[in-house]
Parts: sequence; C-alpha cells; structure tokens
Amino acid sequence: MREHLRRTRVRLTLVYVGVFALVAGSAAVAFWVAFSLTEYQVVDSSLITQSNLVESQIKEIGGQRFGESGEPLPGETQSGIGVAALLLGADGHVLDRSGQIKDPGGLASTATREFPSGGCCRTKMVAGQPMRLMVMPVDLGNGAVGRLVLARPIQELQQSLLRVAVLLLFVVVLLVVGAAGLGYWLSGRALRPVGVMAGTARQISEQDLHRRIQLDLPPGDELGELAATFNGMLARLDASFEGLRRFTADAAHEFRAPLALMRTQLDVMLRRRRSVEEYEASHRSLLTEVERLGRLADQLLLLARADAGALAPRHESIDLPEFLEETIERWRPAAQEREVELDSQVPLEGAVAGDPDLLRQLLDNLLDNAIRHSPGHGTVTVSAVEEAGWWWLTVQDSGPGVKAGLRSRLFERFARADAARGRATGGAGLGLSLCAAIAEAHGGSISLVDGSGPGARFVVRLPSMPVPSSMPARDERGVGAAERI
Ligand SMILES: Nc1ncnc2c1ncn2[C@@H]1O[C@H](COP(=O)(O)OP(=O)(O)OP(=O)(O)O)[C@@H](O)[C@H]1O
Ligand SMILES: [Mg+2]
Repeated sequence: MREHLRRTRVRLTLVYVGVFALVAGSAAVAFWVAFSLTEYQVVDSSLITQSNLVESQIKEIGGQRFGESGEPLPGETQSGIGVAALLLGADGHVLDRSGQIKDPGGLASTATREFPSGGCCRTKMVAGQPMRLMVMPVDLGNGAVGRLVLARPIQELQQSLLRVAVLLLFVVVLLVVGAAGLGYWLSGRALRPVGVMAGTARQISEQDLHRRIQLDLPPGDELGELAATFNGMLARLDASFEGLRRFTADAAHEFRAPLALMRTQLDVMLRRRRSVEEYEASHRSLLTEVERLGRLADQLLLLARADAGALAPRHESIDLPEFLEETIERWRPAAQEREVELDSQVPLEGAVAGDPDLLRQLLDNLLDNAIRHSPGHGTVTVSAVEEAGWWWLTVQDSGPGVKAGLRSRLFERFARADAARGRATGGAGLGLSLCAAIAEAHGGSISLVDGSGPGARFVVRLPSMPVPSSMPARDERGVGAAERI
C-alpha cells in the first residue's frame, strides 16, 4: 500500500479527489442548509400569518367565554395549510383550541415551558412528534392576558429534508468516485510520456545511444521539452561515445602500424646471421619506430590528461623573446635540412604566463608542421604581437596550406589530410589537437587564419603578463637583431 501511495499518479489522484470532495461536500452542505432554511421560513411565515388571523378572531369574540362561542379556533390557514391553535388563559389553562389537537395538555405545557414570554419559532417534540411552535401573548379582554400557541407538525418536512440530504450525499459520493476515476485516468494519461521516457531510458545502453525518445506531444509541452532535453543529452553522449570509439580505434591503428613494421624487420633479421653493419642499420630503424611509438604514447597521455581536466599548466612568467628565439634555433637544423628559411619577427621584450614545457610542445608541433609542409626554398615565419593583454603568436609557412576538406576538423584527434596514413608525410594527426588542448589549458586558443599569401597561418592567443621591472630590455642583452612588429 505504501509503495502504491508513493506513485505520483496515485498521489496526484488523491490530492485531486480530496480537493474535489471538499468542494463538492461544502457545496452540498451549503445547498442543504439554504434549502432547509427556506422550508422552515415557509412554515414559520404560515404560523405568523395564522397567528394574526387567530388574534383578530379572539378580539371579535371579546367578552364571551372562550370555548363557548360555538366556533372552535381555526385549524388551517386561508390557503388550507393545517395549523393547530391553542388559547391559554393567564393561569395556563386551555381556554380554546382548534379541532385537530390530540394532546392539548402536552402542547400547553411544552409551550409554557419553552416560551415563558412568547416567541417565534422553534422546533419542539410534542407527544413524540416534531412540531414548529410559536407563542404570542393575546389580550383576553377584562385586562387579562392569555397566550396563543400555534403549532405545525413538521415530521414530513424533516423527512423530506432527510431525503434531500441522503440524495445529496449519494450525488456527492457518486461525483467523488467519478472524479477519482477521471483523475486517475487523466494523471495516468498526463504521466504516460514519463513512462515512455523511463522505458526508453531503461532500454538504452552504450551500444544503442542513437535511439531517441519518441513522443507525440504538442509543441511547448513541458514533458515534450523534457524529452527533447533528454534526446539532446543522448545525442551528446552518442557523439562522445562515437568519438571515444573512433579515438580508440585510431590509437590502436597508430600503434599497430609501427609494431607490425618492427616485427617484420626483426623477423627478417633473425632468418639468418647478419653482418654488424646490417644489425646496426636494423637497430637504427627500430629505434626510429620506438621513438615514434614513444612520442605517440606521450601525445595520447597528454590528451588523456587534458580530457580529465588534469592538464594544469604551471603559470610561470616566460620571457617570450628568449623563448621564441630558443625554439627557432632548435628547429633551424631541421629547416636547413629541408632548405627552408626560418624567419623570426619577435618583439624586444614581453612575457607570457605559462608552462614552458607545454608551450614548447605547442610551438614544436606548429614549426614541425610548417617546415614539413613548406616546399624547398620556402620560408617559415614566426612572429609575436601583444595587444590588449594578449599575445598573438603566428607561425606562417609558404606551403600549399591546409586542404579545404580538413579545415573544419583540423583540431580533432587523428585528423590529417593524408587519409591513407602515409607515414612519410607526417605523424599521427595528434599534434594540432594537442596544441588546442595546451592553448585552452592556458586560457588561450589556437586557430587557422587566412593569410595574405599562400601557405598555412596558425595563430595562438595566450594571456600576456606585465614585464617585471627587473627584466632587462632585449637590446641591452644583445640577443640578435630583433625587430619590433
Ligand atoms: N602547415 C601546414 N600546412 C598544411 N597542412 C597542415 C599544416 N599543419 C597541419 N596540416 C595538416 O593538418 C594535419 C594535422 O596536423 P597535426 O599536427 O595535428 O598532425 P600531424 O602533423 O599529421 O601528426 P603529429 O603532429 O601527431 O605528428 C596534418 O596531417 C596536415 O594534413
Ligand atoms: Mg604535427
């Protein structure tokens, strides 16, 4: 039972029925009270009318002795309603009465007891019968004051009032039962979408996140909105699970390729005895693959940390000109090897708040990409500008630029133009997603912007830091010929 009461449908119905029963019950009681008041008023007014009639008749009889006038007091009104009349003397004796009174003594004593000084009108039991009574003082002549008692039996009236009460009770009970059924049905109907949602949600597992809650509800319906929100959440979960699946598959693929290569190479090498030179060449090639795997593992680890929100960079003050110069110098041999010119347009002074290790990885990937995609005799330019509290670092190359089909998903994991994953043309396609994660962890961003000329132009935005007064100007330190931009 308790379990049942916890159901929203049952509780809604109970509240609804409770309120309805209260309203219907109050209305029925009010109706019954008004009805009975009206009925009693009709009786009372007949008593009052009759009292006036009888009083005038008593005045006519005047000095005669009552009861000997030959005419008994009238027993009904002019409209034919029976009203018993009893005339009592000053000492309480019955002087006269209408014909229908069976127990004048009982009526006289009740009237004397209940109405010592007269009044209208009350219900009293007289000889086991409910009567509506009124008593009024009358002048009997000779200075004597008697009392005129008028009574009307109201047993029938009371019975019909009881019948009306029973009927009203029956109607109220019927209405409440009907309302309970209707309320239960209505709340069940209103809550049906909740059941559908719960059922669908129960059935959905991570395997079928593409399923959606189907509800046929009018626009603007609250439960429809809830279902839409739930569907939106499912869509996001679906996308993120799909991303996770793709990510795992891509990562496995990236690991499998070099491992397969290493295995083949080891297989071939172990088929027969080799010269020292052959072993050396093989080991070198294996080392390249191991380094590649190591780099991949590092990248994945860093991305996993970024996903978990654990990529909390240190916020050190980094001397930007020095940092950029050092990075560019590190890449100069690789650029020279590909006959690419490395140009720098670095400011004289400035600092960023950041983690040098992470920012180094960010710049390394941008420079690696730029140099790799630049044609022989091409130029890669690194520049930095400070504006409104931000540093804008740009790496521009003179290569073919990022392919149009790749632009929209450039910063996604494993995104690269070379769908066949040709290993000669580059890495796993994780570099730029790492750059984005690092920039975001620093409160900045990275974007590919359209440059004036050909080639790709990547801009990184990082929060700048006020230059400490102790930091000497770049010219004073004599670090190369820097150019203000
Ligand atoms: N400067 C650029 N010019 C042209 N295309 C670029 C440039 N930089 C990146 N791309 C394209 O974007 C893809 C993704 O770059 P990203 O740095 O993320 O991966 P990657 O360099 O292929 O591999 P990884 O950096 O993981 O070793 C590249 O494969 C390449 O197709
Ligand atoms: Mg890269």
